[in-house]
Amino acid sequence: MNNVKLISKKDVQEVLDMEKSIQLVEKVYEAHGRDQVLMPAKITLDTGESNDWPPYGGSYNAMPAYIGGDVDISGIKWVWGFNDNYKKGIPYIGGVIILNEARTGEILAIMDGSFITDIRTGASAGVACKYLARKDASVVGIIGAGVQGRMNARAVAQVLDLKEIRVADIRPEAARACAEELTAELGLPVRAAASNQEACEGADVIITVTIADEPLVKKEWLKKGATVLSLGSFQELDEEIPLTCDKLVVDSWAQNAHRGELLKLVHEGRITENNIHAEMPDIVVGRKTGRENDEEIICGCIIGMGSTDIGTAGQLYKEVFAGAELPAFAFRTYEK
Ligand SMILES: NC(=O)c1ccc[n+]([C@@H]2O[C@H](COP(=O)([O-])OP(=O)(O)OC[C@H]3O[C@@H](n4cnc5c(N)ncnc54)[C@H](O)[C@@H]3O)[C@@H](O)[C@H]2O)c1
Repeated sequence: MNNVKLISKKDVQEVLDMEKSIQLVEKVYEAHGRDQVLMPAKITLDTGESNDWPPYGGSYNAMPAYIGGDVDISGIKWVWGFNDNYKKGIPYIGGVIILNEARTGEILAIMDGSFITDIRTGASAGVACKYLARKDASVVGIIGAGVQGRMNARAVAQVLDLKEIRVADIRPEAARACAEELTAELGLPVRAAASNQEACEGADVIITVTIADEPLVKKEWLKKGATVLSLGSFQELDEEIPLTCDKLVVDSWAQNAHRGELLKLVHEGRITENNIHAEMPDIVVGRKTGRENDEEIICGCIIGMGSTDIGTAGQLYKEVFAGAELPAFAFRTYEK
């Protein structure tokens, strides 16, 4: 028998802030860069997100990974997103993580995966800004004032010395509420923009994190030296941005060819692996260049990697939860 720890969202929230999350995600990218990660492509169960049946407007992803080096842990995240959940007061995203001991497969923990998903996604944008944004970047435009809009703002504020954040949303009241909350929390001016154009024009960093599937950012709004990060699960940028930017960067080519901003362009054969300047892990370990001058326009498509969930959960488990008093249940792994 082994005792499987049950780790709640509150337990995770108590030990994981944005600064820590950025460190943990960067460490997972380093492991990727040293070829110490196994991460098969996500499997999607589509229950109405892009099909008519069943008509539930949602989908699930199964995201397994093994992270080697001193993290040395396996696991899987089962994560879902449902378009109409907000009408029922339920978050768009939910998820659970199973952590396995790397040598025996025994389950170590069953852990909330929703907060880890939320915070590691923001943290991935933070790591991307660290390597791709101009050093003097100070104005950020965010489109999408939901959970991820907030997480991305927190992450960018950790890595850049910001003067202003502008937030736009198809629901102006959501943009206003987000701006008000973040102004108080981050101690810098965060204002609701009246349009996507107002959020983007003149911004050093532009981030899209909506549930839309349409171009929200036009190429002509970008200034020289801009960094544009797309994190939503579908298209959010004018296709001219990934097609003509100076550097197109992804977190993982395999994952981006499966879902997200680049999917249509990949299916049409207009973007192939040859168009990708680098994957983020190669930039983090110095195998590829990040930003090289203040003029280049860099587009980053950060679709999310299961390794960042399992790596974050595994590092927290080893550092904090393995020795903590938590509810547990006995799991039968072997019987004569
Ligand atoms: N890249 C990753 O690793 C990763 C991880 C988690 C979630 N996501 C994705 O991020 C996106 C946002 O997730 P969330 O949890 O913040 O959702 P959310 O529902 O909390 O927020 C989405 C926001 O987008 C706004 N929106 C919808 N359509 C819009 C449009 N056309 N123009 C402007 N704003 C619009 C909504 O009003 C809402 O405020 C989703 O696509 C989700 O799948 C990506």
